[in-house]
Amino acid sequence: MTDEKGRRTMGFAESIAGRTERSRALFERASRTIPGGAGSSARTVKFGWAPYPPFMSRGTGSRLWDVDGNEYVDYLLGLGPMILGHRHPVVTRAVTDAVSEYGTCFGLPYELEVDAAEKVVAAVPGIEMVRFTNSGSEAVGTAVRLARAYTRRRLVVRFEGHYHGWQDTVYWSNHPDPAEAGPADQLGQHRPVAAGPGVPAELAETLVVLSWNDPEAISKLMAERGHEVAAVITEAAVFNTGCILPEPGYLELLRSLTAEHGALLIFDEVITGFRFCRGGAQEWFGVTPDLTTLAKGLGGGYPVAAVGGSTEVMGMIAQGRYSHSGTYNANVVACAAVSATMDVLAEPGLYERQRAVGNRLAAGLRTLAAEAGIPASVDGLGTVFQLWFSAEPIRNWRDAQRFADEAMFTRWWQEMFTRGVLFHPLQFENLFVSLVHSDADVDRTLVAAAEAFDVLSRPPSGA
Ligand SMILES: Cc1ncc(COP(=O)(O)O)c(C=O)c1O
Repeated sequence: MTDEKGRRTMGFAESIAGRTERSRALFERASRTIPGGAGSSARTVKFGWAPYPPFMSRGTGSRLWDVDGNEYVDYLLGLGPMILGHRHPVVTRAVTDAVSEYGTCFGLPYELEVDAAEKVVAAVPGIEMVRFTNSGSEAVGTAVRLARAYTRRRLVVRFEGHYHGWQDTVYWSNHPDPAEAGPADQLGQHRPVAAGPGVPAELAETLVVLSWNDPEAISKLMAERGHEVAAVITEAAVFNTGCILPEPGYLELLRSLTAEHGALLIFDEVITGFRFCRGGAQEWFGVTPDLTTLAKGLGGGYPVAAVGGSTEVMGMIAQGRYSHSGTYNANVVACAAVSATMDVLAEPGLYERQRAVGNRLAAGLRTLAAEAGIPASVDGLGTVFQLWFSAEPIRNWRDAQRFADEAMFTRWWQEMFTRGVLFHPLQFENLFVSLVHSDADVDRTLVAAAEAFDVLSRPPSGA
C-alpha cells in the first residue's frame, strides 16, 4: 500500500502479498519437488528473491508478466540471454522452422551448424574457429582444459569477484570473505576460497587468485611464476560484481604479460559477448585474447554457448589431440538460434541506438539519485550496468565488499519491483537493457525511480 506520494506505508512482504498470491501458492508447491522452489540458486530466496520469487507466465519484447497478471519492464533478461527481448519473431521462427524441417539432434554435423559457426567467426575478432556447447560453464571448462593441454602447464590465474561458472576448476573466489581469503601476499596473491562445499581442496594448488585492476599484482606474479602459467582467465569487464570496468591499460597489460610468458589469455565473454557491441568486449577494448567463451547473448535466449579462439590453439581439437565432446553440442535448436541471432545483431546502427537508450537510463538514474541526495554511481557500458550505492569508487571485489551498501540496494530493488520494474535483487548482479527496450521503457523506469529515490532519501520505516 502507498500514500498519496507513492511511498509505501507497509513492509515489502505485506505490500506484495495481495498482488502475488498465485506466485506464493506456486512457490509452496514448487518447494515440495524442486530444491529451493526454483531451477537455479540465483532464483531462490537465499539469493534475494524474498519472501518468494515471482513466478512468470510470459514475456514479449522488453516486458514480462507474472502469474498474477503484474507487468514488469524487464531488466533481468533471464540473467542476460534475452538480449533481443522475449520471443524475438526472427529467432522464434528460425528455431521452430528448423525443428520442423530437420529435427533436433543428429549426432553428426550439418550445414546449419556451419552457417552458425561462420557467423560467429565473422563477428568476434579473436575467434577463428569455434565449437558450440550448451552452457557457459561447459565453455569455460573446455577453454581452461584446452589451455592446459596446449601449454602443457597447470597453473591458472583468476581474479576475485569474477564468476566463470560452476565447474570445480574455476568455482573459486567469486565473492570470498576477506577473512578467509586474507590480505595479498608478497606476490599480490590471495588465498583461493572455494565458492561452495564439495570442491576438492587440492585444486587450490592449481590456481592463483589476484585482485583485479591491480597491475602490480599481475606483473609481480608473472615475473616470478609466468613460466608455470597455462592461462589467465578474466571477464574483460566484470559483470559478476555489479559492474566494474577495466582501468586504462589493464587488459593490454594482461595481453602482453601472457604473450611474453607463453601463457594463454582467456576472455570469459559469457556476459559481454554481443552485449554492447557485436564483437563483444574484445572489440570494444581492442584487446584480442587467445580463447573466448560466449553464452548469454549468443542464441537470443536459447540454451547455447561456445568456445573459440585462434586456429593455432583450436587446432588441438582439429588434429584430434584434444577431445571436446558433448551429446547435445551444436544441436539444431542451438544452431538455428545462433544463426538467426547473428543476423539480427548485424543490423546497421542497432548497437549505437541501444547503447543510447541504455545510456539515457543510466544518466537518468544518476541524476535522480543525486537530486535525492543519495550517494550512488552507475557503472557500465550502455546495455548493461549496475547502480552502486557507494560514495567510493569500486575497482575490484575488495572495494565492492567494503563500500557497496547492500541494505540500500535491497530497499531500492523492493521499491522498483513494487512499481513494476524487474532486475535481480542482489547488488552484485546487473541491469540488462535488451536490443528492443525503448525510450518509453526508460521513461516508465525513470518515473518509478524518482519515486523510489524519494523513499530511499528517508530513513527506512521502523528505523
Ligand atoms: C562470466 C560468466 N562465465 C560463466 C558463466 C556460467 O555460465 P552458465 O550459467 O551458462 O553455465 C556465467 C554465468 O553467469 C558468467 O557470468
